[in-house]
Amino acid sequence: MSSQLTVKPRPSRRKMPDTAFVNDMFMPLSEAQVSVEDRGFQFGDGVYELLRVYCGALFRPDEHLSRLERSATALGIPLPHSRDHWKSLLSDAVARSGYPEAKVYIQVTRGVAPRDHAPTQDGPPTVVVTVRAFAAPSPTLYQKGAEAITVPDLRWGRCDIKSICLLPNVLTKQRARDEHAFEALFVRDGYVVEGATSNVMNVKGGTIFTAPEGPLILSGVTRQLTLNLARAAGIAIKEQALTEPDFLESDEVFLTGTTIEVLPIRRINSRMIGKGSPGPLTAVLMEHFKALHV
Ligand code: PDD
Repeated sequence: MSSQLTVKPRPSRRKMPDTAFVNDMFMPLSEAQVSVEDRGFQFGDGVYELLRVYCGALFRPDEHLSRLERSATALGIPLPHSRDHWKSLLSDAVARSGYPEAKVYIQVTRGVAPRDHAPTQDGPPTVVVTVRAFAAPSPTLYQKGAEAITVPDLRWGRCDIKSICLLPNVLTKQRARDEHAFEALFVRDGYVVEGATSNVMNVKGGTIFTAPEGPLILSGVTRQLTLNLARAAGIAIKEQALTEPDFLESDEVFLTGTTIEVLPIRRINSRMIGKGSPGPLTAVLMEHFKALHV
């Protein structure tokens, strides 16, 4: 006699708002831990990505994952997952959190090893994914424009690698906060290159200028999307950094980044940019960027 098949109802998966994935396991973020012997903790020996989730869906995961691959390859850290596996892992993490609007960090370090500056890759890299609720910057910031300061660029020569070694960015952001500015713009050899946590673009005579891709900036996913939108709108673009005095004479300045999208800057070092409110090209790009995810 065949035993009767009983179908057990699947337990509904409990939502876990602030969610973490460490190596092979999901857990509430508050319970997530890595070893003190992790090279990320000891040396900042690792790479990261930050992705946005809009209405429960990851925004441009391929662009972020290809930058993660480039950063990891540049440091010789083997990524333990294929592109498809990363995508399903990230989607799973987002679904578990239940947040429709979220930010997702991926951090991959060279892993756990006895402390020695010279790296060995005997063990597996450490993989951490976290999902947190996203709190958008205030709408007033977009309506009025934000304030920025310029600061000397203290960073190394490989700013194209999205490394977790962020001390110059951290100290610079602190300085911006102390001076009541939203962002600090790095100036290297007299040229404005990018923000401490964003790319920067400026408009002069109807042309958008921004520093070219290369070792002096992080090639932002938002930067590339914004340049594509500008091209599609017939706006002229020059991927060229300007000297600080030239830059400060701009008609418009705006930042681009995953958490801020396209954000107008109205003052730099207390000096008004253009008419002091979001300029017309910035407004077009803010609008077009929104349309990418609504
Ligand atoms: N950083 N440049 C720097 C130095 C950055 O830190 C960031 C973003 C960007 C913009 O890149 P994207 O458009 O891909 O977000 C440019 C995020 C906010 C972070 O580190 O948390």
